[in-house]
Amino acid sequence: MLKTKDPTVYKLIKEEEKRQREVLEMIPSENYASKEILEALGTVLNNKYSEGYPKKRYYQGNKVVDEIEILAEERAKKLFKVPYVNVQALSGSVMNLAVYTALLEPLKGKIMGLSLAFGGHLTHGQPQSATGKFFKSCLYALGKDGKFDFDEIEQLALKEKPDIIVCGFTAYPGIIDFKRFADIAEKTGAYLLADVSHIAGLIVAGVHPSPVPYADIVTTTTHKTLRGPRGALIMVTDKGLRKDPELPKKIDSAIIPGLQGGPHDNQTAAIAVCLKEASTPGFKRYGVQIVKNSKELAGELTKYGFKLIGGGSDNHLILIDLTNKRVNGAVAAFALEVAGIVVNKNAVPYDKMPPFYPSGIRLGTPAITTRGMKEEEMVKIAGWINDVISEASSYRLPEDKVGRKEMFKGIKSSLQKNKKLLAIAKEIKIFTARYPVP
Ligand SMILES: Cc1ncc(COP(=O)(O)O)c(C=O)c1O
Repeated sequence: MLKTKDPTVYKLIKEEEKRQREVLEMIPSENYASKEILEALGTVLNNKYSEGYPKKRYYQGNKVVDEIEILAEERAKKLFKVPYVNVQALSGSVMNLAVYTALLEPLKGKIMGLSLAFGGHLTHGQPQSATGKFFKSCLYALGKDGKFDFDEIEQLALKEKPDIIVCGFTAYPGIIDFKRFADIAEKTGAYLLADVSHIAGLIVAGVHPSPVPYADIVTTTTHKTLRGPRGALIMVTDKGLRKDPELPKKIDSAIIPGLQGGPHDNQTAAIAVCLKEASTPGFKRYGVQIVKNSKELAGELTKYGFKLIGGGSDNHLILIDLTNKRVNGAVAAFALEVAGIVVNKNAVPYDKMPPFYPSGIRLGTPAITTRGMKEEEMVKIAGWINDVISEASSYRLPEDKVGRKEMFKGIKSSLQKNKKLLAIAKEIKIFTARYPVP
């Protein structure tokens, strides 16, 4: 028993369990996986080495693991309606790197993705990421209204001639027009990669259009709205197969021997469980409720005068520009955490502040919806957020770099003792006790 053999780790896990229970988890990329998924993760499958693919392994003893991996693949193919899937990428970053490794020549191939500053992901070709270091990249932006200017994106694609155009984002509150991205990719001869990590659960639930008819390759993590274990799926669509029948082979080789050794078989089993859960009517209802909650929350926050990027939310997340509230995003995220609401600081389009002290926060409804919260609860949560931000507005962070780090330290220590925030945290602790975590 962990409790007796390693009480230190046991105690830390219990502390984290308590934290997750007593706060409003509103980081849009987080969720609560089911007990069954966690159960599959903590099994003897952890002990096996299975380098290779089902029926083509480098190690003996993989009869059971082959069945598990084939099951996960078949479930994913059925759920997303694709002819090919690789379930071995250990997480989202390596999943995208695998696609680029499969398709591009190092230092020559070019990726075109949304800039991180506008809601793209590091692995969509940002210069700080291996994807922007080992491959060429060019980045597109959002318009001033927080929406895509497709004519501008098309012009950039025609000029830069990327090999892969990436759509699918990390901090975008709208519906993605996959067809428009596909038209641009076709015009410029690029592959279209849709990274739907954030919205996979919404796609499965039918509340966001699927990229499958339009993209050549679709990638997704399995631990966000899909509510599974940490992990990833790399899928090739019928369109992708028609374009290049070798795509599956290239992607398989990019994973192993290209980037990884043995897959995490316990993770594969948990992905299979997640895919079964995601194919139920209950999951559909869950996806519908995520969006209803996000829209309701966005509407309530707007009533309090919050400025939402894109004007609201059509998916699971909300991006707030706090400039008009005169609160820095880092201060807001910290104050909200003290009060029991966990979100992340986030850059907003055309942010004048640096990434560590951005002007906004990002929050979402996947995890609180898992706990059974509905529109009524969103009204309450918006009220709490407004109270916290009002309280935080008396803590000003200078726009100027000089002395900012020290000042932030001071602000944090004062926020930690703020009576109003601590009182809200108490209310939230009582409130969240009514909504069980899996
Ligand atoms: C769109 C997108 N792609 C990829 C990733 C990377 O996933 P991971 O953190 O599992 O490497 C993320 C994670 O936030 C993401 O939002």
